[in-house]
Amino acid sequence: MIEKSQDQIETRLFINGKFQPSSDGKTFTVTNPFTREPVANVFEASDADVDNAVAAAKAAFPAWRDLSPADRGKYLHRIASLIREHEEEFARLEAVSSGKPVSRYVDASVAIDAFSYFAEAGWTVQGTSSWNTSGHLNITSKEPYGVVASIIPWNVPLAFFGIKIAPALAAGNTIVLKPSEKAPLTCLLGAKLLVEAGFPPGVVNVLSGHGPTTGAALSSHMDVRCLSFTGSLLTGRKIQTAAAQSNMKTVHLELGGKAPAIIFPDADLEAAAAQTQFSVHIFSGQTCIANTRIYVHESVAEKYTALFKGMFGAAVLGDPLDKETTLGPQVDKIQYERVKSYISTAEKEGAVTLGGDAKDGYFIKPTVFENMPEKSQIMKEEVFGPVVVINTFRTEDEVIRKANDTEFGLYASVFTKDIDRAVRVSKLLEAGTVAVNCTSPLMPKDMPFGGFKESGTGRESFLHSMESYLETKAVLIKIGS
Ligand code: NAI
Ligand code: MG
Repeated sequence: MIEKSQDQIETRLFINGKFQPSSDGKTFTVTNPFTREPVANVFEASDADVDNAVAAAKAAFPAWRDLSPADRGKYLHRIASLIREHEEEFARLEAVSSGKPVSRYVDASVAIDAFSYFAEAGWTVQGTSSWNTSGHLNITSKEPYGVVASIIPWNVPLAFFGIKIAPALAAGNTIVLKPSEKAPLTCLLGAKLLVEAGFPPGVVNVLSGHGPTTGAALSSHMDVRCLSFTGSLLTGRKIQTAAAQSNMKTVHLELGGKAPAIIFPDADLEAAAAQTQFSVHIFSGQTCIANTRIYVHESVAEKYTALFKGMFGAAVLGDPLDKETTLGPQVDKIQYERVKSYISTAEKEGAVTLGGDAKDGYFIKPTVFENMPEKSQIMKEEVFGPVVVINTFRTEDEVIRKANDTEFGLYASVFTKDIDRAVRVSKLLEAGTVAVNCTSPLMPKDMPFGGFKESGTGRESFLHSMESYLETKAVLIKIGS
């Protein structure tokens, strides 16, 4: 049993402004994937805890809704500056619990920007008016749902803490957030700062726990009116079903990808190689937007692939706390085994030409497959590791067909100096984001982010997220004479 100290790592549930153990005392262990030593025993929210958190959020809702945008914004500004003050602590905590290199830590800055933007943006919530019905002034109003829930993954937890909480609160909702069981600690540290920021009790609640228990209780809860989820397609389906079978809560889903990057012969090959390898390198390939299917024109394939492998292969594997490290271990044993099994299945249909299992802890080396069959599993499913396939193509039509031959549609990139081709191809690629001469993880904060096809529903960004947390009401006003 690991001793928990109040001053060290917070492991309790955050309900109604207070930290508390779970009602049944159940905990689960978070492990450091680099040392493979336990880091903390974290309380797992039971059904009763979920009920309590939702009830607290429901009770806090009317007063929070009725604050002016400026008054809600004061709290959001405070949490933004507290996160800034603790940025290094967040980076270290994420490094020891989920293996993310401190050199690559961006989660805090994403959260700070989200809280800062939405601290001001509440004023933009506006409806419309109409004189089109004789004798009436009809108006629409935009109103918060009430209790919002959010279920998030483990790859950028504190970033999601900001991206999900800030717009929901700015719109006047209250929220229950469930971090992933793989990486709950930075969200709990975030909750500690919410107390310091003086947030009214119940406005934000943070519940650690597993998906089939805590997550399922939230997605089928009758008092949760809107749920925003980021994670796997499989879980997204379950949440959508639970919503339909309970209270038809509005569900927003961001469900991953299998992003293609297309390299035409006239591209700046050096820049294309540098960016496309960074895309699968960052966070050890554990991002939904990673360009995991690269299509390079056969005439430049040799040159591009050599450049790519040189840079990708130079990744520095090591202790996530070491500032030199660029590639940490996979987040946990489950994910490590999962990536290994994708690699060994792929090896039956093709060959690893760089990397593979590092056979050292939960590390996977930067891994490249070349010329894989388009129908193979590794071309169709999300691996979530530093694993990429480089295939070749001859014609534009052919590569567009191949790039679009997937159920995912989150992100796609094209590298060419021909403006006509860039525009033509951008139009035809089936993806929520198309990047020209650049690639993921580029996600400008004011651009809508979300998926075509099975990559999800809804869009998130500074300019789009607020809408996800608002209902529209028509108010019909008859004018007396
Ligand atoms: P997951 O989808 O199971 O987990 C994401 C979140 O959903 C976690 O908070 C989890 O506790 C929760 N959850 C799981 N089952 C649930 C249920 N029945 N009801 C409600 N909530 C539930 O993803 P997991 O297992 O952590 O990773 C597996 C794969 O999913 C990865 O290898 C990757 O391919 C994909 N993934 C995609 C992400 C993205 O950013 N789109 C993020 C994380 C994972
Ligand atoms: Mg861990």
